[in-house]
Amino acid sequence: MALPFTENDVYCTAFNPKAFLDAYFSDKVGALVNDDYLDFVLKQLVKTFTAGVVEGETLIDIGTGPTIYQLLSACEVFKEIIATDYSALSRQEFEKWLKNEPQGFDWGPIVRYVCELEGQRDKCTEKEEKLRQTVKDVIKCDVTRSQPLDSLLPNSADCLLTSLCLENACKDQATYRNAIRNISSLLKAGGHLVMMGVLEETFYLVDDYRFSCLFYDAGFVRNAVRDAGYVIQDFQVLPRPENSTHLISDYKGYFFLVARKET
Ligand SMILES: C[S@@+](CC[C@H](N)C(=O)[O-])C[C@H]1O[C@@H](n2cnc3c(N)ncnc32)[C@H](O)[C@@H]1O
Repeated sequence: MALPFTENDVYCTAFNPKAFLDAYFSDKVGALVNDDYLDFVLKQLVKTFTAGVVEGETLIDIGTGPTIYQLLSACEVFKEIIATDYSALSRQEFEKWLKNEPQGFDWGPIVRYVCELEGQRDKCTEKEEKLRQTVKDVIKCDVTRSQPLDSLLPNSADCLLTSLCLENACKDQATYRNAIRNISSLLKAGGHLVMMGVLEETFYLVDDYRFSCLFYDAGFVRNAVRDAGYVIQDFQVLPRPENSTHLISDYKGYFFLVARKET
């Protein structure tokens, strides 16, 4: 039976960003590291941001959470990145890394891997510094609102990126479809949406707290993106590996999508 929807405000109280990072992104033991999600999306992100098609002035990351992996290649081809999230706890954890505070999560192994993929294995310190310089703001966002950002940005973005957020923020498929339209209001026509998400999941655990996830398949997400006025340019799926036996989430796969906003 599906878990009752985890209301957005629960992310401001019960979502422990440090525990999330430790459980899912720790070197060699994190669930998203071991299940190849990271390897899969980092390679897709390198491919997307080095092809010379998805680039520009401003990228907005929707539901950044406490993570930076999704921005490591983008910072090479965008002049500014705006990080956003609903929860102050997630924004604070992200800012610990941004300000290079000693208690911040160690992204070193993941940064090194991206540098290797980009053929710049000696440039890890420069890469983290470049990302820090490129992130110009960290602001509140609510994808369920027709105007998702509290602060109005002077110009529309050239790219929207979002990873593992909408399926947690949306209580049903109609809300998910609306959320794509809501965030798309921040993107200029001709701009790109780069989205990573989880397929056929009902829950994931952080610190023993069970968070709900909107259950959907690849067909649903493709239709929702097309119906919001996009042409899909790339869509890749990573099925759950057979040797993935952990019980901290019940997902069946991950997807990576690139789409161009037509209208
Ligand atoms: C599972 S985390 C994913 C974080 C990160 N993007 C990643 O790839 O790991 C989900 C994030 O979505 C945020 N979130 C939940 N509801 C939201 C909403 N209505 N609008 C924006 N962000 C929301 C949470 O605060 C949390 O940081």
